[in-house]
Amino acid sequence: MAEIVLQRVMKTYGSLYAVNDVSFTVNDGEFVALVGPSGCGKTTTLNLIAGLLPMTGGDIAIGDRVVNDLDPKDRDIAMVFQNYALYPNKSVFNNLAFPLQMRKLPKDQIDTKVRDAAKLLDITHLLERKPRELSGGQQQRVALGRALVRDPAVFLMDEPLSNLDAKLRVQMRSEIKRFHHNLNATIVYVTHDQLEAVTMADKMAVMNGGLLLQYDTPANVFAHPVNTFVASFVGSPAMSLIPLEGTTSATGAALRSPEGWELPLSPMNARKVAGSTSNQIILGARHSTLKLHKAPVPGSVPGKVYTVEPTGDVTFAQVFINGAVVNISVEPTIIIHPDEQVFIEFDQDRMHLFDAATTMALQAA
Ligand SMILES: Nc1ncnc2c1ncn2[C@@H]1O[C@H](COP(=O)(O)OP(=O)(O)OP(=O)(O)O)[C@@H](O)[C@H]1O
Ligand SMILES: [Mg+2]
Repeated sequence: MAEIVLQRVMKTYGSLYAVNDVSFTVNDGEFVALVGPSGCGKTTTLNLIAGLLPMTGGDIAIGDRVVNDLDPKDRDIAMVFQNYALYPNKSVFNNLAFPLQMRKLPKDQIDTKVRDAAKLLDITHLLERKPRELSGGQQQRVALGRALVRDPAVFLMDEPLSNLDAKLRVQMRSEIKRFHHNLNATIVYVTHDQLEAVTMADKMAVMNGGLLLQYDTPANVFAHPVNTFVASFVGSPAMSLIPLEGTTSATGAALRSPEGWELPLSPMNARKVAGSTSNQIILGARHSTLKLHKAPVPGSVPGKVYTVEPTGDVTFAQVFINGAVVNISVEPTIIIHPDEQVFIEFDQDRMHLFDAATTMALQAA
């Protein structure tokens, strides 16, 4: 296995920056998810690592080699695509064996490698079947197996689970995680599903518009999103974002709503607001950090219930605060109704503050 280093990687199509000055390092044995909305540059980044596209600029190293000018076949990578691309007329055994036959490995070695991979992926009983005789999840495991037998330095995977139904996707998610754990493989995994990235990866690279916005562990991205885009992209239901006005007075700092209320800020949050370039502040809060009250409590602000969605374990409510929709989760025993006036209490230690002008998270000075 090997590390992957991207330095200032660029890919342009005419005036379009598909990948714009992207740098990150995937450590040896790490599972990194490239995540972001459709068209943000995930596949392009992966294809640049694979060598399937020429770069406009920058450097890519795999292991101790700069691979900029190497053909895909010389980069020691294995790719797993969304559409598996299995050979329909070959048995599962021969699908796995094919890349090794091409390399002219001795027959007994091929046999051993194929059977080892089949065992790891629990497809030994399927080796004689044709791909069309397999379920989607089984086909997916064969595609993984075909990458695995090649024993590459790195695995590159582009939305490998997106053709599967929701239940199978969750199951395959654990299996790919297990695959990573067993092999200690270096994996770059493309997905547009933030939940897949958060649950599977050691680190996630959040992209938008060709730019790499944040590269960190899922826990850090969740706890400290760098801007409003990352804040609302990662986490479900999404972090609520409420545009307000920052004010400071002799008694301290607060966020003020044109609806006539003020939310006083803790000293730490006051320092953040003091460092903002504008007084337009966006208050961010995740559903689990908010408390819903039927009567005002100190530090709560008024809101109006829009929808109530019981899910059994937990009830989700959407509440309008200052014109913004705010997601809140409450105990299922709490009865609330649409259009009811409620009061929402914020957790000062877990709220997020963003500069509305730059969308960047505010840091305490
Ligand atoms: N051959 C091409 N010519 C011109 N533009 C391209 C080409 N390939 C990709 N693009 C553009 O580059 C941008 C990034 O595309 P890319 O396929 O990397 O997105 P993605 O993040 O993988 O999206 P998705 O989640 O939809 O797969 C998009 O705006 C796309 O339209
Ligand atoms: Mg793509």
